[in-house]
Amino acid sequence: MRASFPSYRPRRLRRTERLRRLVRENELSPEHLIAPLFVIAGRSERRPVESMPGVEQLSADLAAEKAQGLRELGVGAVILFGIPESKDPGGSGAYDPEGVVQDAVRLIKAAAPDLLVVSDVCLCEYTTHGHCGLVTPSGEVDNDATLEVLARVAVSQARAGADLVAPSDMMDGRVAAIRSALDAEGFAWVPIMSYAVKYASAFYGPFREAAESAPKFGDRRGYQMDPANAEEALREAWLDISEGADILMVKPALPYLDIVRRVKEATGYPVCAYHVSGEYSMLKAASARGWIDETAAMLESLLAIRRAGADCVITYFAEAAARRLRAG
Ligand code: PBG
Repeated sequence: MRASFPSYRPRRLRRTERLRRLVRENELSPEHLIAPLFVIAGRSERRPVESMPGVEQLSADLAAEKAQGLRELGVGAVILFGIPESKDPGGSGAYDPEGVVQDAVRLIKAAAPDLLVVSDVCLCEYTTHGHCGLVTPSGEVDNDATLEVLARVAVSQARAGADLVAPSDMMDGRVAAIRSALDAEGFAWVPIMSYAVKYASAFYGPFREAAESAPKFGDRRGYQMDPANAEEALREAWLDISEGADILMVKPALPYLDIVRRVKEATGYPVCAYHVSGEYSMLKAASARGWIDETAAMLESLLAIRRAGADCVITYFAEAAARRLRAG
């Protein structure tokens, strides 16, 4: 570089904040952020999640209040996870028209009509065994039998008013099943944000406490992706596109920024990265000990995810980051 451009001095454009801003390539703003909410039954109920300081399970009325505040901060969307009062092997609470998520969608849309509401489509929070699909008597996750249930869940959420549905179960064929069910029920305009590239990750630990969704036997490696694989991520992405996905999710985010970039470049589709619970808790734990500047590390992490190619980011820092970004 110096040989061919002897007078190029990169630091000339780094000297002042105005100069830095003039040539900044990427930005982070509240509209890019999606805040996860954990919804529990009842009213005026809140329960802190121990492994995720600052995150609470909220009843639908409090979730609606929270959503209104997020809307005022300019946050783009919320994504809802439900913790039902009771579970069964078939996960029937997930498609109950009076279920926790359906209830919360209605209250949130009433309280903040222009805030986008994404609903997570999965069974693990609703099944007694904690797997993301139905389980056969021999303990296998039954892919094809699960598809019908997932489609039912998505339709019930769309009927309650969800703006987008986000299947996170990782069953083969679920995007096509959900797309055709939504179309048949009059929800052709509800986009699918598919967890196309979801790895079997150790970073989901705190979420499983928050969502009370840890598997009671085995693990999720039979349906989530092997962290060693990158080419497979592209196959998953194209497959979901062929089935009708509108937005592709990559999850987790920071350990998989190479995948975010590759999926974005290969497909040109909108990409959403999920900055997951473990990524959040690590920063919280380090900052609680005074080992890291929480605000700076939070903003740097989120901006890095955008720089890698994510259009939007699901993050438990959505509220804190939006506050900070608005303060300038
Ligand atoms: C459930 C689901 C998980 C997450 C989102 N949806 C956990 C899992 O697959 O076990 C993890 C999110 C996070 O860690 O923040 N299908």
